[in-house]
Amino acid sequence: MTQHLLEPLTLRELTVRNRLWVPPMCQYSVAAQDGVATPWHLMHYGSFARGGAGAVILEATAVVPQGRISPQDLGLWDDAQRDALRPITELVHSLGAAAGIQLAHAGRKASTEPEWGTARPGASLAEADGGWRTVGPSASAYAGLAAPEALDEAGIDAVVDAFVAAAGRAVEAGIDLIEIHGAHGYLIHEFLSPLSNLRSDSYGGELAGRARLLLRIVDAVRDEIPSGMPLLVRLSASEWVDGGFDLGEATQVVSWLREHGVDMVDVSSGGNAEGAAIPVGPGYQTSLAAHLRHRTDMPVSAVGMIDEPFQAEHVLATGQADVVRVGRAFLRDPSWGLHAALALRGDGDIVPPQYRRAYRQQLRRS
Ligand SMILES: Cc1cc2nc3c(=O)[nH]c(=O)nc-3n(C[C@H](O)[C@H](O)[C@H](O)COP(=O)(O)O)c2cc1C
Repeated sequence: MTQHLLEPLTLRELTVRNRLWVPPMCQYSVAAQDGVATPWHLMHYGSFARGGAGAVILEATAVVPQGRISPQDLGLWDDAQRDALRPITELVHSLGAAAGIQLAHAGRKASTEPEWGTARPGASLAEADGGWRTVGPSASAYAGLAAPEALDEAGIDAVVDAFVAAAGRAVEAGIDLIEIHGAHGYLIHEFLSPLSNLRSDSYGGELAGRARLLLRIVDAVRDEIPSGMPLLVRLSASEWVDGGFDLGEATQVVSWLREHGVDMVDVSSGGNAEGAAIPVGPGYQTSLAAHLRHRTDMPVSAVGMIDEPFQAEHVLATGQADVVRVGRAFLRDPSWGLHAALALRGDGDIVPPQYRRAYRQQLRRS
């Protein structure tokens, strides 16, 4: 029987060894508020590559200081940050995996206290405490957070330029694929959504206006990176509230992304509307991915509580997605990919030779 999860996938000139990828997950582990990766990041991302992932996507990495979710986020607005990523990409490559990075601007959800190590995780960080004034499409605040300043045209141009510069540095750091963060209520998603984008200029109103920032960034980044390098976008395909950015609008946006040279969309949801009724449970976002894949022919990855090897295999075998991303299950068990490979076909090839003695029994039994 074919094991779809373990089959390689080629996007442009990049061939990834399997279809089990690790999604971006913020570590809030930057010291000195300088956006520079630390030994934690090296260990963390290397462990997923060692543990059998095909591609490891580095966490939301801010393109400008103002675009950080918290002061502890990774950044890519200067060369020191680029240089600190090189050992990570080298390690990931040496372990047979591809290294991706998610480039991000947190918009009106920036300048918050990190998820751990502070008294009020997720709360707005005052300027006096090292925070900064946030920006968004409009001056409307996300629930409980400080109100942002609406970006003017020059501010929007600067955001586009910052994504381009960060993408260029990512390429220099040895990154294999770039993902633009268009999900979870951060800046690009804020522009896409009629709930947060109240503009009356050419960046607001109808969907074409709300999608303009995303498409400008996609075009500019596509021009910057090598033609053989895949460009991905992560979207929240539903906000799970009436009147929000929904699957119908997402379908149109994904069709546009395809025309603009995007190679794959990762299908997530939520993050922009307080009180949304998100039907959290095993595979809860997979049907959104399947819908987009079938309606647009865009390759997609599915993510969200895909925690078991046969569940992941089923998503691919039934044509719901081209790639499965496994996040928290990989945090719980950084060898998740090795265990999935053994469970699905008893294949020990992916086990690093240094560790094979530990797997002899499983390999004999298979
Ligand atoms: C610790 C943590 C950090 C996360 N940081 C990011 C991030 O940087 N960018 C992003 O798009 N999603 C982020 N997410 C969401 C994950 O990428 C993923 O979509 C989510 O955890 C659902 O997948 P899972 O059920 O396999 O964990 C994060 C999730 C976790 C648990």
